[in-house]
Amino acid sequence: MYKYLLIKESPKLKGSVKISGAKNAALPLIAATILSKNSLTLKNVPNVADVNTLLKLIKNLGGEFEFKDNTLKIDTSSINHTIATYEIVKTMRASILVLGPLLARFGDCKVSLPGGCAIGARPVDLHLKALTQMGANIKIEGGYIHASGKLKGCDIVFDKVTVTGTENIAMAASIAKGTTRIINAAKEPEVIQLCKALKEAGVEIDGIGTNELVIKGQNELLDFKDIKIIPDRIEAGTYLAAGAITNSKITIEDVIPAHLESILVKLKSMGFSLTIDDNKITIHPADEIKPITIQTSEYPGFPTDMQAQFMAIATQANGVSTIEERLFENRFMHIPELNRLGAKIDIRGKIANIYGPTTLIGADVMATDLRASSALVLAGLIAKNETKVHRIYHLFRGYENLVEKFKSLGAYMEIREEPIP
Ligand code: EPZ
Repeated sequence: MYKYLLIKESPKLKGSVKISGAKNAALPLIAATILSKNSLTLKNVPNVADVNTLLKLIKNLGGEFEFKDNTLKIDTSSINHTIATYEIVKTMRASILVLGPLLARFGDCKVSLPGGCAIGARPVDLHLKALTQMGANIKIEGGYIHASGKLKGCDIVFDKVTVTGTENIAMAASIAKGTTRIINAAKEPEVIQLCKALKEAGVEIDGIGTNELVIKGQNELLDFKDIKIIPDRIEAGTYLAAGAITNSKITIEDVIPAHLESILVKLKSMGFSLTIDDNKITIHPADEIKPITIQTSEYPGFPTDMQAQFMAIATQANGVSTIEERLFENRFMHIPELNRLGAKIDIRGKIANIYGPTTLIGADVMATDLRASSALVLAGLIAKNETKVHRIYHLFRGYENLVEKFKSLGAYMEIREEPIP
């Protein structure tokens, strides 16, 4: 059977949704358990495809886990081999996060090269260059990264800010011998949570939350404390964007507003007002949705993972909006799909111009990557008639209980199945 998401033009949304744990915090923390000398529990882990893929990888390596009701009990002491196979890595690029921990713990491992993905080539050269500087012997053969050697702390400068590159090196440095300085480190909230967990596990880390991390390796496995995953700021932003595009009043709960600052500022400049409490945010309708100018950048700048969602909102703004994607070379795949719904968006290199407001009419559209697919869902909420979003497996990689959450807000949405033609 073939699944797609059917969305009907939905009336104003109303009510509130609880935000799940952050996928991009859970993934590095699950990889970090490879460095743990004991079993540990992670709470508020989102039950999404990417998390289950990484857990499958850990199991294939010999690790054990129990994942129920968003609580993950994991024990990697039984890992007995160190090959992360192509079958798994090809479905999720973030599998590269096991490279640093496996190499640091075992001194020899093979991880399939992740290959490109829809949003760009996304090489891992910066990860490999940094590990080489730490003393690793890296060979690329048969589509696999073969890494071996004893790691030693050293000074590393990332030529580009890389989230998983920073996370990989921070994990490897945590049990290497000596001190590692990471200059031009990423400082996303997810990177901060990983560093805090490593620090609580006994690693001496300075500079958490800045672009320079100084990590004193423990030269032994770590004693992790139990962890509660931080809320998903991108899921939170996506639901706020749903309130914005339907010009409704809705509330998101279990969030950390400070993690969404740049998103909130942009929503306000589009004319929406926000009520912000300590762990919830309510968006209120705008009298007029104003056009916006956005450049994506590393945290705390405007997140690339919210670019597609704001492009959908911009189709309803009174005027021309401009969005520049500065992190990835091919993250505009949602534009032709939005145009199929009646949007008027043109692309000039890395810059998209969105001419609004436009009336969107439901159609069949194709999801291409996780965040692009969420933009199509948002557009489907206001498009006349029915919208069918195909290849919805992209959506379920990173949005827990998406259909249930949208239905609880009053959206007309359901997963349909039909025989494969
Ligand atoms: C992380 O990906 C996130 N994934 C992405 O979220 C997010 O879009 C991205 O950071 C940027 O914020 C996870 O955390 C699991 P990068 P990552 O390394 O680490 C280039 C989602 O939707 N680069 O920060 O892979 C790279 O090509 C996903 O949840 C190199 O050139 O991104 C890109 O242009 C999508 N060489 C830029 O740096 C390298 O070795 C930033 O990439 C590494 C990266």
